[in-house]
Amino acid sequence: MYLGLDIGTSGVKAMLVDEAFATVAVAQAPLTVSRPQPGWSEQDPQDWITACEAAISQIAAEHGAALAGLKAIGLSGHMHGATLLDAADKPLRPCIMWNDGRSGQQCLELEKRADFRGIGGNIVMAGFTAPKLLWVAENEPKIFEKTAKVLLPKDYVRLWLTGEHFAEMSDAAGTLWLDVAARKWSDALLAATGLTRDHMPALGEGADVAGMLRAELAEKWGVPRVPVAGGGGDNAATACGMGVTSPGTGFLSLGTSGVLFAVTDKFAPNTDEAVHAFCHAIPKTWHQMGVILSATDSLTWLSEISGRSPADLAGLLPPKIEAPSGIGFLPYLSGERTPHNNPDASGAFLGLRRVTGLPDLVKATMEGVAMAFADCVRALRLAGTEIDAAYAVGGGARSDQWLEIMAAVTGLTLLKPEDGDFGAAFVAAKLAVSCATGDFSEEVFAKPRVDREIVPDKELAKKYAEHYQFYRDSYPALAAWQG
Ligand code: XUL
Repeated sequence: MYLGLDIGTSGVKAMLVDEAFATVAVAQAPLTVSRPQPGWSEQDPQDWITACEAAISQIAAEHGAALAGLKAIGLSGHMHGATLLDAADKPLRPCIMWNDGRSGQQCLELEKRADFRGIGGNIVMAGFTAPKLLWVAENEPKIFEKTAKVLLPKDYVRLWLTGEHFAEMSDAAGTLWLDVAARKWSDALLAATGLTRDHMPALGEGADVAGMLRAELAEKWGVPRVPVAGGGGDNAATACGMGVTSPGTGFLSLGTSGVLFAVTDKFAPNTDEAVHAFCHAIPKTWHQMGVILSATDSLTWLSEISGRSPADLAGLLPPKIEAPSGIGFLPYLSGERTPHNNPDASGAFLGLRRVTGLPDLVKATMEGVAMAFADCVRALRLAGTEIDAAYAVGGGARSDQWLEIMAAVTGLTLLKPEDGDFGAAFVAAKLAVSCATGDFSEEVFAKPRVDREIVPDKELAKKYAEHYQFYRDSYPALAAWQG
């Protein structure tokens, strides 16, 4: 038995799988995000532990006999969160999350201080960890002084599980303190942020043994003291789950954030278009990502203000998409990373008329998100990566209409996997398998069977091409609203 734990933005998921990767048990516990000021996004690290305890205890209560055969634990989680600990490993403040935009000024300052683009492979963006630490140094200097370690969210959970400070490469790259090509901490990038290697956890790969489960927890859950694997940041972990482990393969994730992910066999940055270039969770492998900050979150926002559930809203669309809505939507509700790199960018509906109804806004929202993905396809192409097809995963991929729009707008053939769980918790469990067995084979990281291929509809694609141009022109045209 292997246990995967995913610390997601909206909840923790624990998944127990057997040696054949069949799911034995799943338990979830919700998490909330607090937004104390516009553009801020925080979570209390203690809430991750409470949620993990609840999910694992539920599995222990309902599947105790199976859990007793546990061999290893794997971890994944949302990336970039700054979890600041004092010398006694106590969190000094809430974690500043991946979609927090407060550190725009600090990004500009860090770029002046060191070669983040060359060594770290990325523009310094507000979502990444390094500028958040500079923000804390400038705005909460007492907390900065007391900071003894900075951990990523899943690595804080690991500390609770094992007592070890450990980070693996895919998530560590998202701090911007990693020399991404060399896969080691960069003293220069740390120094630019007023930190040293002492503030960093030990580094390893996704399937390395990061530590052993603490005796107290092992006893409580009735399991042996098993190894805890390095795991992966949620996107690298999802990629492993889809067999997206070698160049030429990719996935498109329609989750809270939207990600277009492609594997590269070397470190391949393109900072001009705000492409992310990070390590993969597989040794000697890297990846590129285009990241948009509000994918399904755009629909969630519309659902909150309209008082209808996201599923209700999706149900307002006709079964087949014949034509664009004719309404523009910029999905920059939490700022944007690729391609604009602007934490202060804002969203917009354009082209509203007296006859515009809620179904039109739903369609426009899905279209706007698809166009943001088209920007990512373009950015990756400019970084030398051609992808024609990608697995489509995440909550939004449950909507056939959204996938049809996505295929027509982006030109990608979308591969919808057969029913199954390819989520990060599942892969965290797989990384636990590799950790326990040393097996990285295609059997472990198998490609899922494809249930449906959504090929771009040529007629629809033609109709959307003009709208995509409007979309691209709208952001600069609305410069006064973009922070
Ligand atoms: C990737 C990113 C998000 C988070 C959320 O750079 O910020 O995808 O990992 O899960």
